[in-house]
This record gives sequence, structure tokens and C-alpha cells, in this order.
Amino acid sequence: MSRLVEQPEEQEYALDRDCTTLSRHVLQQLHSFSADAQDLSAIMNRIALAAKLISRRLSRAGLVEGALGFTGNVNVQGESVKKMDIYANDVFISVFKQSGLVCRLASEEMEKPYYIPENCPIGRYTLLYDPIDGSSNVDINLDVGAIFSIRKQEGNDIDGEARDLLQDGRKQIAAGYILYGPSTVLVYSIGTGVHAFTLDPSLGEFILSSENIQVPDHGSIYSVNEGNFWQWDESIRDYIRYVHRHEGYTARYGGALVGDFHRILFQGGVFLYPGTLKKPQGKLRLLYESAPLAFLVEQAGGRASTGTQNLLDVVPEALHSRTPLFIGSKEDVALVEYFIQDRARESEPAVMARS
Ligand code: AHG
Ligand code: MN
Ligand code: MN
Repeated sequence: MSRLVEQPEEQEYALDRDCTTLSRHVLQQLHSFSADAQDLSAIMNRIALAAKLISRRLSRAGLVEGALGFTGNVNVQGESVKKMDIYANDVFISVFKQSGLVCRLASEEMEKPYYIPENCPIGRYTLLYDPIDGSSNVDINLDVGAIFSIRKQEGNDIDGEARDLLQDGRKQIAAGYILYGPSTVLVYSIGTGVHAFTLDPSLGEFILSSENIQVPDHGSIYSVNEGNFWQWDESIRDYIRYVHRHEGYTARYGGALVGDFHRILFQGGVFLYPGTLKKPQGKLRLLYESAPLAFLVEQAGGRASTGTQNLLDVVPEALHSRTPLFIGSKEDVALVEYFIQDRARESEPAVMARS
């Protein structure tokens, strides 16, 4: 019986693929071994370590005492905090200790940024992150994620208010997310395209699985929580009526932004989290949810908008500022903007319409 003999070139390809780890890929993308390139490569490696630790916890959460359920506390967002939110939040802090890389961490779960004294002021990088995105899915074993953004510290932040973080999304030097699904996938960009890595548990390494991902210009998917229909502005309701009535649209909504975004990144379409009566600015936070994904989607040829402004141009007033979010294929986001802006024009005072 003939054994499957890999041809030398197949063998070489398989070996090379298994060696295209995240840290190596960053250096390849930067075509440089400079100190900054090494820093960024090391930061991505630490994020990968955090992802592995959290993935391990999630994969056996149902068997670990105290891993699931609520802490009983409410965070700065006014949301009930899950035990996994806190575990993941603290993992990101731990992996950056003794790294000399990241001085500050700003998280959805912490009112103020966390400083790692031994890294300041050497470490000129700040990590902004949502440690568990889609917390409502954690206890029922559905997909959850994490979202991260890396910015360079500007100034010395003497008062610990981290005001230099209140700048637009184009100040990000890297962004990405981790999707804890059937496999654990890390997607990132440092401004040279969007690339995905899949965790190989047998190696304990994230291995390159998709390079230079491009979001289709149009897709059939619209992803929105239609339970909020009567809380939306009429323009959004008009858009939803449009996709209900026109062939070729299908609804997908998983309750975790990372999973819904990942689907659209690969298959096209649009994710919507509009403002509501209760939350006129919407639910999603700019600095560590919308802006990182906006960075990615623009790198992938897509678009992200507040409905009236490019999401990457928004300057937050505070660390936990929220904005409405419309993100995905450029044609589909443009259609949502058309409904929003057209309705706005209709409601313009007559005098302005004449000018
Ligand atoms: P988080 O778990 O970090 O608070 O994020 C949850 C967010 C986002 O992941 C998701 O798209 C959205 O909340 C779902 O909100 P609704 O349940 O209001 O649809
Ligand atoms: Mn989130
Ligand atoms: Mn979260």
C-alpha cells in the first residue's frame, strides 16, 4: 500500500505555513526589524498569549467552578458584569506586566485606565480593549470575542486622565479582534491589510490562515437587533422596510459584535447598531469597539460610519463615549447613509431646502 508521501515543495509549504506565526508576520508586514517593529511584534505576541489563556478558560468554562455567571457588580457602562469579563480583563493586564511595552490599558470594564508602573514611561504604547465582547453569549456557549486597539502615548499623562486617548481613530497604529468560535481566530491590521490567524491548539500558536482579506463591495446580510425597531429613528425603520421588501437580503444577528462583524468581513453586508430612544448615541463604545473595527474594515476595502460621519473621524469626548455604528460593505453602508441623510433632508426646514 503506497504511503502518502508529501512532495518536498508540499512539505516545505506546510512547514513554512506552520512557522508563519503572528509575531513573524508583523515583522514581515513592516519589512523591518527596527525597535518599533520589534515592539509591535512583541505586543501582538502578548495579545496572542492573552487570547490563548482566555480561549482555554472558555473551552472548559462549564467545568470550572466560578468561571461563569455574574459577579453581582455593575460596570461604568451600567451593565451587569460577568465573571468572564473580569477574568479576561485581568488576563490582558497580566500578559503586559514586566513587558516594558504597554504603560496604560483602557478597558470597557475599567472606569479609568490601568497603569503598569514598571512599564511607564519606557512603554510608549496604550492598549484599549473590550476583554469579552458579546458577554450575553458567554453562559450559553455561543461565540464571544475581544476587540483591541493600540495607540502611541502622546505626552506624559501626568494627571493620569489619559486625555491624549481622546483623538480620532486614525491615531490607531494597530487594531484587531479575537473570535472565540469553533476555532479561535485572531484578526489584525497594522495598516498593511487585514490578516487572520487560527489557533492551532496542538502547537499553541496562531498560524496564518487568511491574508489581505477584502470585504465584498456588497453582500446580502444585514445584521441588526430588530427588537429595537420602535426605538429607532424613522430613517432606520425605512431602511429595514426596504431590505424586508427587496429580494436578496437575509438577516443574521448573533448578539456579539465580533461574530457578526467577522461574518460580514468575509461575506459582505452591513452591521447596524443605530441610536435608540434610550441610547441616542447607540450602545457600542467608540475607542475599543467601533474604532478598531472601523480601522480594519477600511483596510479591507469596506466602510464604517456613524450615519453622518466617517467613524474614523469621530473625536470622543470621553473614554467610554458611544456612537451609532454602520459598518461593512461600502455599498451597503452607503445605502444606510442615504436613508439617514435623505430623511434628514426631508425634515429640513423649508428655508434651508431652498438654499
Ligand atoms: P459587550 O458584551 O462587550 O458589552 O458587547 C455587547 C455588544 C455587542 O457585542 C453586540 O453587538 C451588542 O452588544 C448586542 O447588543 P443588543 O443585545 O442590544 O443587541
Ligand atoms: Mn463589546
Ligand atoms: Mn465587553
